[in-house]
Amino acid sequence: ASTLKMLEGITFENCLDDGIHCYQTNKWLIEVAWEVANKVGGIYTVIRSKVPTTKKEYGDNYIAIGPLNESQLRTEVEIKEPEIGALRTTINLMRSQGVGVVYGNWLIEGYPQVVLFDLKTVSGRLAKWKAELWEHTRIGIPDMDFEANNTLLFGFLVEWFIGEFAHQLGSDPKFITAHFHEWNVGVGLMMIRARCLAKIATIFTTHATLLGRYLCAGQCDFYNNLDKFNIDKEAGDRGIYHRYCIERASAHLAHVFTTVSQITNYEAENLLKRKPDLVTPNGLGVKKFSALHEFQNLHALSKEKINNFIRGHFYGHYDFDLDKTLYIFSAGRYEFSNKGVDMFIESLARLNHKLKSAQSDMTVIAFLIFPTNTASFNVESLKGQAISKQLRDTVHNLQNEIGKRIYELCLKGELPHGDSILRNEDLIELKKSVYTSIQRHGLPPICTHNVVDDAIDPILNALRRCQLFNNRYDRVKVIFHPEFLKSTSPLIAMDYEEFVRGCHMGVFPSYYEPWGYTPAECTVMGIPSITTNLSGFGCFMEEHITDPETYGIYIVDRRFKSSDESCEQLAQHLYDFTTLTRRQRIIQRNRTERLSELLDWNTLGIYYYKARQSALLKVHPDMKETLSYLQPKLRYDKPVSEPASPSMSRSSTPRHFSDNEDSSSEDDEELNRLNSTTNSERSFTYLGRPKSTEN
Ligand code: UDP
Ligand code: G6P
Ligand code: GLC
Repeated sequence: ASTLKMLEGITFENCLDDGIHCYQTNKWLIEVAWEVANKVGGIYTVIRSKVPTTKKEYGDNYIAIGPLNESQLRTEVEIKEPEIGALRTTINLMRSQGVGVVYGNWLIEGYPQVVLFDLKTVSGRLAKWKAELWEHTRIGIPDMDFEANNTLLFGFLVEWFIGEFAHQLGSDPKFITAHFHEWNVGVGLMMIRARCLAKIATIFTTHATLLGRYLCAGQCDFYNNLDKFNIDKEAGDRGIYHRYCIERASAHLAHVFTTVSQITNYEAENLLKRKPDLVTPNGLGVKKFSALHEFQNLHALSKEKINNFIRGHFYGHYDFDLDKTLYIFSAGRYEFSNKGVDMFIESLARLNHKLKSAQSDMTVIAFLIFPTNTASFNVESLKGQAISKQLRDTVHNLQNEIGKRIYELCLKGELPHGDSILRNEDLIELKKSVYTSIQRHGLPPICTHNVVDDAIDPILNALRRCQLFNNRYDRVKVIFHPEFLKSTSPLIAMDYEEFVRGCHMGVFPSYYEPWGYTPAECTVMGIPSITTNLSGFGCFMEEHITDPETYGIYIVDRRFKSSDESCEQLAQHLYDFTTLTRRQRIIQRNRTERLSELLDWNTLGIYYYKARQSALLKVHPDMKETLSYLQPKLRYDKPVSEPASPSMSRSSTPRHFSDNEDSSSEDDEELNRLNSTTNSERSFTYLGRPKSTEN
């Protein structure tokens, strides 16, 4: 089957088990990011998911530092006081000089210690520190750039903390690595180098470049002009010259500079003018289930919750079969063209047309989850949920009543019939609920909230332009949810992970995406996804998997095709997906989930390990060289169950079944049995053989 071959490779875990790190005692890792205990986007996921593997190496010598965000503090951190030692002394010294420092444990797997700085408490030092930055670097930060001013305050605090902490650790040999993520924490790194803090090994990881993000959002032909931009001018024109300088200086001053993917490597080389030393691809903490098919059960359970929401949302228009409905979604920070939402909506319109032309009986419901400013929930959306709930409650009560009546009759030796079970008053009660649920003026809403800038909102306008209005005759329905998902929502009461599990496919046709966690998260949950060859994740999968489509990883070509052609390719992938039978979807999910190992931090953590070792070597040149043989090579071959030469169209993998091979509950049971076999047995499940021979 799909074996992850570690050719002459060595995993991060092996590395630790081999004790390679043991000769380094008094080893500390300080990780600095704006998103420590502060959720904004993917960097939060990087730091958070990496903690358990990082702690395997560092134990309690791992400290994460971030800015204090009061609104997230309560749910993210258990506040404490540090035990005696260098950390406690450092924090207390800083506090004694008026700095607000919160110490505690981040409430995530691995329970790491975090130090959070309250920037308000040092705002009085802004002018002094600004002058000092200017003195050392000739970078001036304008007063009106509130965010950049905060990054300056934070940077100086980080340098203060690290300097003091190193001093408090004493004069014994010590190995301290400070790892900085993204430009907004760069000032700390710059000041460590500017003040020549002894023996602090520094790493700077960029998860995107500032200019890259800005230029792409402006609809330019980015990748064909990467080496041609007049960078200073472009940064100046956008009013981000000072930020750009911080980013570029951080990249150049770090002992080791890394990015998250090859494509961002290339971008950084051109825009920041330093070739990164290493690519540190993003991993995930992979959940290991005791039963192999557990994730399939979770899909079914979560899908039922989405079904419930849909029943309410489409009340009065619920004329499609949920058994023949597919849930697809896209989600992330609201960067309309960078995240490829423009292409997604255009492809949905084309898919709608294709399904109608083919007279397909499938319905596709596309969710777009991109937070923007909203005034409140849409009343129609709330009403839909209330109506379906009322009907559900009425039926539930009646069900109980009928049960009692049947029991009573049977006790008396009678058999239930017609009126004795369902009475007139029951029918009246039912009619009331049914009438409310079928009377609807207007179409089911395309947005669950009232968006503040409704008239100029890019998603709403694209949906309007493509006339995706949830008409009865549309085979593609759309729901824009302009808020991240929460299990406490009165509409879709699920958290993001649960929602993803319940969907059939994630669609992320990004134009600018240094990595792209969203499709990676789909993969480890066994949910197929569509990404592009402009996303770090897409390129990584292309590099490591022989035929990604057979594993449910569809990669749209946005490099060598026009946007119209890419859009068509995306629409075709979506259409082909609607023609899969349930049985094929289940098999595909099994294959997708098998890729988890490739994305696990236990596999990918080694790149971070390498970066740290390289940085330490630069400040401790006498350290034993251990890096030369840490060369993981990862490769996934085609699944053995996939025919060796493509006998069918590539775009329709897994192989299409004829109608009479369509899924049945028997098929599902059989597949569940197959799912629950061991890995080696599983490698012989032959996709596409007639059912009778499958055992
Ligand atoms: N995400 C979330 N809730 C949502 C949608 C997305 O928590 O409703 C998370 C998702 O799990 C992912 C992150 O947001 O980890 C987005 O990261 P990605 O790398 O895809 O994009 P970025 O926002 O960093 O550009
Ligand atoms: C999982 C469950 C099956 C269920 C199936 C639905 O595999 O274990 O019991 O039938 O999901 O798949 P679908 O692709 O139709 O949502
Ligand atoms: C950035 C990028 C995203 C990446 C994340 C984590 O926010 O936009 O593509 O996944 O960082 O590296």
